Amino acid sequence: MTRSHCYCFSGIIISLLIHTLASPPLHFCLPDQRDALLEFKDEFPTDESDPIPWNKSSSTDCCFWKGVTCDDRSGQVISLNLFDTLLNGSLKTNSSLFRLQYLRHLNFSYSYLQGEIPSSLGNLSRLTLVDLSHNDLVGQVPASIGNLNKLQVMSLGQNNLNGTIPISFTNLTKLYHISLRSNNFTSTLPSDMSGFHSLEHFDVSNNSFFGPFPKSLFSLPSLQTVSLEGNQFTGPIEFTNTSFSSSLAKLEDLFLASNKFDGLIPQSISKFLNLQTLYLQNNNFTGTIPRSISKLANLYVLDLSNNMLEGEVPSCLWRLTTVTLSRNFFSSFENPLQETLIQALDLNSNSFRGPFPRWICKTRGLSFLDLSNNLFNGLFPPCLRNSIDSLTDLILRNNSFSGTLPDIFANATELRSFDVSRNQLEGKLPKSLINCKALQLVNVESNRIKDVFPSWLGSLPSLHVLILRSNEFYGPLYHLNVSVGFQSLRVIDISHNDFTGTLPPHWFSNWREMTKMREEDDPYMADIINDSVFYRNTMVMVIKGVETSFERIQQDFRAIDFSGNMIYGEIPESLCYLKELHLLNLSGNGFTRGIPRSLANLTKLETLDLSCNKLSGQIPQSLGELSSLSYMNFSSNFLEGPVPRGTQFQRQSCSSFSNNPRLFGLEEICGKRLSLPARQQPEEVLEEEEHMFNWVAAAIAYGPGLFCGLVIGHIFTSCYHERWSKKTQSHHK
Ligand SMILES: *[C@@H]1O[C@H](CO)[C@@H](O)[C@H](O)[C@H]1NC(C)=O
Ligand SMILES: *[C@@H]1O[C@H](CO)[C@@H](O)[C@H](O)[C@H]1NC(C)=O
Ligand SMILES: *[C@@H]1O[C@H](CO)[C@@H](O)[C@H](O)[C@H]1NC(C)=O
Ligand SMILES: *[C@@H]1O[C@H](CO)[C@@H](O)[C@H](O)[C@H]1NC(C)=O
Ligand SMILES: *[C@@H]1O[C@H](CO)[C@@H](O)[C@H](O)[C@H]1NC(C)=O
Ligand SMILES: *[C@@H]1O[C@H](CO)[C@@H](O)[C@H](O)[C@H]1NC(C)=O
Ligand SMILES: *[C@@H]1O[C@H](CO)[C@@H](O)[C@H](O)[C@H]1NC(C)=O
Ligand SMILES: *[C@@H]1O[C@H](CO)[C@@H](O)[C@H](O)[C@H]1NC(C)=O
Ligand SMILES: *[C@@H]1O[C@H](CO)[C@@H](O)[C@H](O)[C@H]1NC(C)=O
Ligand SMILES: *[C@@H]1O[C@H](CO)[C@@H](O)[C@H](O)[C@H]1NC(C)=O
Ligand SMILES: *[C@@H]1O[C@H](CO)[C@@H](O)[C@H](O)[C@H]1NC(C)=O
Ligand SMILES: *[C@@H]1O[C@H](CO)[C@@H](O)[C@H](O)[C@H]1NC(C)=O
Repeated sequence: MTRSHCYCFSGIIISLLIHTLASPPLHFCLPDQRDALLEFKDEFPTDESDPIPWNKSSSTDCCFWKGVTCDDRSGQVISLNLFDTLLNGSLKTNSSLFRLQYLRHLNFSYSYLQGEIPSSLGNLSRLTLVDLSHNDLVGQVPASIGNLNKLQVMSLGQNNLNGTIPISFTNLTKLYHISLRSNNFTSTLPSDMSGFHSLEHFDVSNNSFFGPFPKSLFSLPSLQTVSLEGNQFTGPIEFTNTSFSSSLAKLEDLFLASNKFDGLIPQSISKFLNLQTLYLQNNNFTGTIPRSISKLANLYVLDLSNNMLEGEVPSCLWRLTTVTLSRNFFSSFENPLQETLIQALDLNSNSFRGPFPRWICKTRGLSFLDLSNNLFNGLFPPCLRNSIDSLTDLILRNNSFSGTLPDIFANATELRSFDVSRNQLEGKLPKSLINCKALQLVNVESNRIKDVFPSWLGSLPSLHVLILRSNEFYGPLYHLNVSVGFQSLRVIDISHNDFTGTLPPHWFSNWREMTKMREEDDPYMADIINDSVFYRNTMVMVIKGVETSFERIQQDFRAIDFSGNMIYGEIPESLCYLKELHLLNLSGNGFTRGIPRSLANLTKLETLDLSCNKLSGQIPQSLGELSSLSYMNFSSNFLEGPVPRGTQFQRQSCSSFSNNPRLFGLEEICGKRLSLPARQQPEEVLEEEEHMFNWVAAAIAYGPGLFCGLVIGHIFTSCYHERWSKKTQSHHK
């Protein structure tokens, strides 16, 4: 025996004596249990942080050690909870843990246990709770788990477990909570699950489980939550195998999303009278919504998006609070008889047609409304005035709404996104939008709005995205007595309008959001991430000459597109304050004088298009140092002198410099054929650009970086085609 063992041993005697003499023998640590614990601790690497704070020299009763619970009478260790203790090691088959034969609860959740689950876990036959959830176990679940026939709770979620579920699993009939979520199981479920009489929570989401819908599971009236989400289950779903009366069914939450289920949504869904949430999105369901769904009086969330459903939407859905029907083929809805309770309604990308459904205006507390990508027509609904005070998102993009936008936004204090792009709206922007202090996004792209530049929007404190592209806006951007703030703006696209006038040198100096250099671990980043506008909104912009759809707006994307207007004069020097800018497009205007040298301060710049202006002088050599700059276009100006030598310049297409008769140094870029001066025939320009745009398209679709939108069309930005594309611009129907 070593000294420390002696000490430790006498420590135990003393502590036993103290316990025996000073207090009734509630519980005290048995030596074998204590040794097993200490040896268990020794199986894991220790460092300064000492994750398991037990030690030999400590004389306290091991029943008081962190995470240890003993039986009051026998002193046996019955529970070990090492939740959130960084073990950084694996559990060996001969681990001393398995000497703790009286364990009932074993909770190693978030302890980052590695390796496989040893088969000797099956020796701890008294276990009722096993929680090994979170991030590093591998391999298969041992068949011996079937020996744990007292088990009630088994949580193995968020590991890298794989393979199949052992047959012995069906032994565990006392289980009321099973979670295997987010692992790599490639398995079918046991064909008969009707023996799990006590099962309440069953979660196998985010694995590769396959096979048919587990009918037998749904014969259990005890079920409360079932998630099969994110697997490879196939075929139809049905709930006919239920022998219990539906008033006994406890099921409240059913997640079947993101599988390969198909066929009809069965009428038998109404067996689960207590259902509150039902997620069937991202499958291949066909047919109509079953009428029986009206029996589910407690249902409040329904997501059917991204299926092949069609027909009429029954009015019983309008008493739910969240209804997501996007990306289906629904064509009409039954009008509700009374007031509806809907708070979030997403009808995006269906085949709805006709005028705006007026019953939506009767909805009290409506917050999210997305009708985009349908065939709605007629006037923009003034009756929305009634629900405007609760609306946070109004998204009507890509329909055929016409007429003027009514001035109904005075009370829209919650409104964050206002997207009416790609309709046939005309008239002016409603001035009452100035009251929408929460506004983050205004997108009226591709309408026929005829108004002056809305400088007044510059005072909105949270406006991040302003898109006025392809309308009939006119007049100067700058007014002497209006100071334009736009302090929160991240993306502004006012291209293809009739804006004119000059921009004073200081014009951009108040655009704080684009000015501010972002530290990598700035708490500000967390703010942005919570910014739901950047989750929910899609947007289309021309990136590198290609019309690109952003399924979501990237939070740190910063862009200015003023192209295709008639703005003239000098490029404002204050641009160089916008240090976070990724895209700058000033092409197709009348800018004169030189390219400001300070543009080289925009170190994040990826796209720079100054083509089709009247710029003169040299291209600043310092631009050659911008290593992020992957696309640039200086064509059709009066630039002269040598092209900067940086690698990014050498990678450009020859046409990026064409039509600048006095530019030289293009041999490497254009090849011998087109050495100085860089002048080309229009046909050649077209051919080359087409080639290049295809390349750019591929890069955008598959490349990393910020521009990971979806290419939906090609726009030619060379001056010849500029006019052409503007004149023939359709409304992208
Ligand atoms: C042992 O634990 C006690 C109390 O938890 C602590 O005060 C002591 O520093 C520890 N000793 C060692 C060697 O870690
Ligand atoms: C885990 O242990 C390994 C050595 O076995 C060590 O390199 C690594 O840094 C440890 N990880 C943590 C998070 O302590
Ligand atoms: C577990 O039980 C098996 C057989 O019942 C035995 O062979 C094995 O040694 C036990 N393992 C441990 C760690 O106790
Ligand atoms: C467990 O087995 C390994 C060899 O597989 C051995 O090195 C180790 O000492 C054993 N541990 C215990 C606690 O028996
Ligand atoms: C494991 O312990 C943590 C922390 O005490 C707790 O939040 C979690 O619910 C426990 N796991 C189970 C399955 O009870
Ligand atoms: C689990 O599956 C994911 C996705 O298929 C894969 O990226 C990961 O490498 C797999 N993990 C293991 C340990 O096989
Ligand atoms: C499970 O993962 C391990 C590595 O963690 C791998 O060796 C084994 O082939 C995988 N088994 C299956 C069935 O995928
Ligand atoms: C568990 O199941 C296996 C295989 O189905 C069976 O052989 C074993 O006897 C069962 N164990 C218990 C404890 O029921
Ligand atoms: C499954 O994975 C998806 C995508 O990674 C994630 O959004 C979802 O929250 C996961 N579900 C569960 C239950 O972990
Ligand atoms: C969905 O079903 C249709 C026919 O009903 C089939 O053509 C299509 O391939 C299915 N899609 C998927 C992703 O299974
Ligand atoms: C705004 O709300 C107030 C009080 O609720 C109401 O009197 C007023 O008419 C509303 N204004 C508009 C433009 O709807
Ligand atoms: C631009 O960068 C240069 C050097 O990197 C610096 O001297 C100059 O002050 C910067 N200009 C502005 C407006 O930030």
